[in-house]
Amino acid sequence: MAIIYHESSKIFHLYNDTVSYIMMVMKNGHLGQLYCGKKIHDKEDFTYLLEKAGRSMTSYLYEGDRTFSLEHTRQEFPVYGTTDYRQPAVEVLQENGSRISDFQYVSHCIRAGKPKLEGLPATYTETDSEAQTVVITLQDVVTGMRAELSYSIFEEGGVIARNVRLVNNGTASVHLTQAMSLCLDLPDCDYEWLQFSGCWARERHIRHRRLVQGTQAVGSMRGNSSHEHNPFMVLKRPTADERQGEVLGFSFVYSGNFLIQAEVDAHDVTRVLVGIHPSCFDWKLESGASFQTPEAVLVYSDQGLNGMSQTFHRLYQKRLARGCWRDRERPILLNNWEATYFDFDEEQLIGIAARAKECGVELFVLDDGWFGERRSDRAGLGDWTANPRLLPGGITGLAERMEEMGLQFGLWFEPEMVNKDSDFYRRHSDWILATPGRSQSHGRYQHVLDFSRKEVVDEIYRMMSGILREAKVSYVKWDMNRSITECYSAALPADRQGEVFHRYILGVYDLYERLTAEFPRVLFESCASGGGRFDPGMLYYAPQGWTSDDSDAVERLKIQYGTSFCYPLSSIGSHVSASPNHQLLRRTPLHTRANVAYFGTFGYELDLNALTGAEITQVKEQICFMKKYRRLLQFGTFYRLQSPFEGNETAWMTVSEDRKTAIVGWYRVLNHVNGNFARVRLAGLRPDYRYRSVSDGRICYGDELMYLGLITSDDTASETGMDVKSCGDFESRIYVLESVE
Ligand code: DGJ
Repeated sequence: MAIIYHESSKIFHLYNDTVSYIMMVMKNGHLGQLYCGKKIHDKEDFTYLLEKAGRSMTSYLYEGDRTFSLEHTRQEFPVYGTTDYRQPAVEVLQENGSRISDFQYVSHCIRAGKPKLEGLPATYTETDSEAQTVVITLQDVVTGMRAELSYSIFEEGGVIARNVRLVNNGTASVHLTQAMSLCLDLPDCDYEWLQFSGCWARERHIRHRRLVQGTQAVGSMRGNSSHEHNPFMVLKRPTADERQGEVLGFSFVYSGNFLIQAEVDAHDVTRVLVGIHPSCFDWKLESGASFQTPEAVLVYSDQGLNGMSQTFHRLYQKRLARGCWRDRERPILLNNWEATYFDFDEEQLIGIAARAKECGVELFVLDDGWFGERRSDRAGLGDWTANPRLLPGGITGLAERMEEMGLQFGLWFEPEMVNKDSDFYRRHSDWILATPGRSQSHGRYQHVLDFSRKEVVDEIYRMMSGILREAKVSYVKWDMNRSITECYSAALPADRQGEVFHRYILGVYDLYERLTAEFPRVLFESCASGGGRFDPGMLYYAPQGWTSDDSDAVERLKIQYGTSFCYPLSSIGSHVSASPNHQLLRRTPLHTRANVAYFGTFGYELDLNALTGAEITQVKEQICFMKKYRRLLQFGTFYRLQSPFEGNETAWMTVSEDRKTAIVGWYRVLNHVNGNFARVRLAGLRPDYRYRSVSDGRICYGDELMYLGLITSDDTASETGMDVKSCGDFESRIYVLESVE
């Protein structure tokens, strides 16, 4: 790994074993982009990569010169309107109304390691040898605005993390109306665009299309990163697939409004922008003030989509998630939400917990409904004290009873919200986000607290930390169940209202930071009506997230498959729920529900007392299996093998670091009669190792399993009728492969 600056050609070359990233200071002082791709040899001069041909209908920067136009130049920090007409990385609105700027190279600084981003989540290093960082300072002479472009290249994997800090060194105030974290101009558009989109209960479905001239984008304007689009996008070469080929992944370490777009120009140059959504964004920078953009992470892989995902998994598991839970196997939990909803009392909870304990569950999570007058979603949010009619001994008493039973105890909060029917709102009705004289739209009868205000965050911190200090709580589920409307803060002047969305998220991060610092042993799980804020920003504070409110095993195949493109299995909250399922009323076998949930954090979301004796035996076996293999399931190297978006069958697998053990999950949605003799080709094994399948004892070489495949159809595949044992709809199997060397 190195960051080299060639003084003579003014070229920066960042490289490691996987990726090269080359930029240069161009003759107008701007930073040009020359190459981003597979690692190439370093040399003094790559300036020939800069296009100089003149074109008709082009505007040129220099009088009498038809060789230099920003329109035909690939750039790192472009502005609009000085010969470039594409979407810019930055826009500075000045006192005289102009939005033109001219960011020219001033200096740079190369250092070992990676500096922290104050107040924002970001990837990090533990030793300086893990990464190198170059900060390139550019300046606009007219306004005095400085831009510090930061690039960190990690030793491992094709990872480049970027952010920008903007400093107003001028004398007048300006408004930042666009401040993207990443701009990358690629020389062609021969890519397929993959986005991860959906809605509540159907998050992160893969959608893809070829890039074409014009702009394609995903984003959120909802105040959260959203169920609708994840802040993640992939450009892959059309011939690339899961196992091979060139892929670029773009991930935004942020939990609020975002934009990821690719603009293909008339000459097939592709400009990728990643950052805070510029709509509604307007940040006033007074003289001397600065603005820090969130981090964007770029991953290059020439090992296909699995290679890219594995790089993200390692990075986000080891160098984005933090704290003592980062590397620890996650407790098997039982969450009472789908078991009881709001209808419970302490004795009922104890009954559910006792059964869970008997089955081997380790953590009991009390979900929504334990506080204030919260007997439905219409009241109580904000009143974070236990309802004594439900919990006579309060949270402290209940946690103690759980501890006596040998269970850890977890608790649900929705810190950012209030119901109008709450004592909190009656005390602080001016603490919600609301635009004067306009409607106050609600979502699930609740309103959003103005987390851009420190006093609001302080008060919520006081209430939450009080409970966590007093009661033995070892897990917190942090929920967020509506998007923001009528976004306006009563505490900010008119010319700062464009800051509220971002200040809100900074307030959320601040509360997370304070709570995780004070309670380092508590495991936090993020949630936003399921997967509405499943993003890398959250992962920095909460090492796992509730992936979706949809706990149906078949739906989960797509949701977890899509989620795995960016996020590690240790972050993917996955539970076994009741059948018929509460979201779809679909009936699926208990083993299939577990076989899907194993590939995640694993838990139960139902009243185990409602199961039959035979089912309880099965649950006990499932928990034993998970306890035996959870390190491999949560921290192994994950491979997607067969996509639920492409057919009736899905397969994925995880392989241990020493490649001696692997677990394959195979799933078939609908049964079919007289089907094919099916096999699935595995990945990641040692070709020369012999692996024994624990279920049937068959021994095969790794190369056999990877190139010939694992047979997935059973003896009854071609039959139908009474004697067919296990091939109904929603069938699934787990194959444990152990090396016999
Ligand atoms: C939405 C979450 O996703 C659910 O798991 C549950 O916690 C409910 N909120 C409770 O209101």
